[in-house]
Amino acid sequence: MSGDVRIELPEARKDSHLRSDGAAISVERLDKSYDDNHVINDMTFEFERGKVYVIMGPSGCGKSTLLRQMIGAEMPDAGKVLIDGIDIHSHSRKVRDEARRKFGVLFQSSALLNGLTVAENVALPIQRHTDLPQSTIDLMVKLKLELVGMGGALDKYPYEISGGMKKRAGLARAIALDPAIVFYDEPSAGLDPVMIGVIDKLIKDLTSKLGITSVVITHEMPSIFRIADEVLMLFNGRIVFRGSPEGLRNSSDPLVRQFLKGDPEGPINAPRQLSELSERLIGPSARQGSSNG
Ligand SMILES: Nc1ncnc2c1ncn2[C@@H]1O[C@H](COP(=O)(O)OP(=O)(O)OP(=O)(O)O)[C@@H](O)[C@H]1O
Ligand SMILES: [Mg+2]
Repeated sequence: MSGDVRIELPEARKDSHLRSDGAAISVERLDKSYDDNHVINDMTFEFERGKVYVIMGPSGCGKSTLLRQMIGAEMPDAGKVLIDGIDIHSHSRKVRDEARRKFGVLFQSSALLNGLTVAENVALPIQRHTDLPQSTIDLMVKLKLELVGMGGALDKYPYEISGGMKKRAGLARAIALDPAIVFYDEPSAGLDPVMIGVIDKLIKDLTSKLGITSVVITHEMPSIFRIADEVLMLFNGRIVFRGSPEGLRNSSDPLVRQFLKGDPEGPINAPRQLSELSERLIGPSARQGSSNG
């Protein structure tokens, strides 16, 4: 595209910038249960602006549940989530909308609408949240798609593009309104190692070049060490580790060690239940056999 296109920042985009000096995200004494399954247990933490935070932990430990509370998609039983100091669960819709304008979300499925082209998908949040003329929206969409290396796929439909391209289109849509924060739920799921590297680089670049705060849920160990400024590991509804990727690598915590090694034997619940089950079914020798092997 031509080099000297200028776009005025509309109001909605100014709003999306973080205003205060406080935390980008602040989670205070958050609690969430489903019946008697206590998924988030009195969780408190803060995320600073302009960093990449990785949330990891075994399957079922509550990562997606935590994400849903943080983006206001679900009400917690207790506690608060503040996005740039604004309560995402406020009773006032106006306040909730103000908080929502500050972040974008890349869902695991990319969640593109199949009946719309890639460009139309990216335009959707801009049309919904601003009164900008279509010509300006077209330019914004083009810029965002070029930023994620998808400038040539504007008129393609989601079913015509690969999984990696869908992720990138989903990312373009997540940053359509220039959010201060982007949440990613398993951005590398189902992608090949090279495409995972591409997505990792995009996350890193968006964070460093645009000053975005990134919150990434991932299991992908190479990604964690490539992108994270800080890592949080969840287990049994609590944060069991918070620190640098280096700190994670050197941690002596048995939960962390087991997770990093991918060891089926150890303190992490589900595999233990599984090995107890196999013990009950085929006797203790099965377990000894597996730990020798
Ligand atoms: N809407 C819901 N209703 C009832 N139980 C739920 C609901 N959502 C999640 N759970 C339960 O909460 C727990 C945490 O689920 P969650 O999806 O947050 O885990 P996760 O860490 O994202 O796992 P994965 O790595 O497999 O995606 C699980 O025991 C799950 O069965
Ligand atoms: Mg999940």
